[in-house]
Amino acid sequence: MSNGKKVLLIISGGISAYKSLELIRELKVRNIKVRCILTTAGSQFVTPLSVEALTGDKVYQDLFSLTETNEMGHIELSRDADLIVVAPATANIIAKMRAGIADDLATTALIATDKSVLIAPSMNVKMWEHASTQSNMMELQQRGINVIGPETGDMACGEYGVGRMSEPLSIAQKINEVLLENKGMLQNQIITKTKPMKLVGRKAIVTSGPTKEAIDPVRYLTNHSSGRQGYAIAKALSEQGAETILISGPTQLPSPSGVTVKHVNSALEMLAACKEFLPADIVICAAAVADWRIANPNINKIKKNGELPVLELIENPDILLQISQLTKNRPYLVIGFAAETQDLIKNAQAKLSKKGCDWIMANDVSPETGTFGSEKNTIHIISKDGVEAWPTLTKEIIGQKISIRIAEFLDGLS
Ligand code: C5P
Repeated sequence: MSNGKKVLLIISGGISAYKSLELIRELKVRNIKVRCILTTAGSQFVTPLSVEALTGDKVYQDLFSLTETNEMGHIELSRDADLIVVAPATANIIAKMRAGIADDLATTALIATDKSVLIAPSMNVKMWEHASTQSNMMELQQRGINVIGPETGDMACGEYGVGRMSEPLSIAQKINEVLLENKGMLQNQIITKTKPMKLVGRKAIVTSGPTKEAIDPVRYLTNHSSGRQGYAIAKALSEQGAETILISGPTQLPSPSGVTVKHVNSALEMLAACKEFLPADIVICAAAVADWRIANPNINKIKKNGELPVLELIENPDILLQISQLTKNRPYLVIGFAAETQDLIKNAQAKLSKKGCDWIMANDVSPETGTFGSEKNTIHIISKDGVEAWPTLTKEIIGQKISIRIAEFLDGLS
């Protein structure tokens, strides 16, 4: 649907620049035209020749050679595109974008543009966590810059943590999304990005997806869960300016932009990750945590030898309960989910008092509702003040509605 759209891709100097070559291919498959600016540092990681071979166009590197042939070269370059994408976006280029420094072709194009910008941060975990990078990111997001990633994982430098650039496929999907959003903005004349964000300065943790409890290295116990509702909530909270951490069990979903994603497998890992990121203002437990795990998972694959294996189960910690019962630094708002197949409201009300959380988002997951994995959901919000029924909505809209509701609640506290 973004057929014929033009992207100006800025490749700055990060180790993940090699992934940008894959990104160019992903965009070309989608019929999106790509022009590239390669920064001096970027050219240490990928060659101009490989970029030219993939884009089929000249690669733009030098501010002054551009201005020699055409006085407004860099301005045209940035205005001609429908979207500017910076991938990888290093801590350095992010800092320059915030400050408005224009000391090479890439940063000059970024300051000269009147188009949307999407950045895919990529850096070492300590650089990402540094207060200046975090403050730069917050400021850029408030200005309406779109962000995808970074993700958590092993890094080229040997460390582990947040800072990996998102995968080319996810970036290409995000580019498509932003190009379509831009189209909508022009058609409807709604500039949604200029709406004030309601959760700036707040920190939110969202758990999502299923957990996998190992039986042996090959087999596991799990629950049905696509993770979509939790991901949509995390995305919406981040769009409202909250520093958002999504602690996700295994899902097929791309990381929502601007959200720090911590991938986990088991309930114990999910609890440890929550503790790592607490304290927070808001915690939403949307994960379908397995109630039990295997007491002693086998180190090796259990062989079929004619006898049925006996699996001893033990109960997993209840993450929602533990967070709700915190006596020190308890979040202002702890929200749980109740996925029920019968007596929805009654069971959800019982869950609210048993877990000690503030709100329960109750949804009917009987097979006939098709809620699992679907785009839509039907939610009831249960709190001590009563029950509020929401109509059937997309999970995306539910995320947006609940973020606004959370912001209103927190405003009411002050
Ligand atoms: O007890 P039940 O699993 O029905 O409760 C559902 C709610 O509790 C959800 O919000 C879920 O994320 C949370 N939960 C949890 N840790 C568990 C079990 C459930 O956080 N071990």
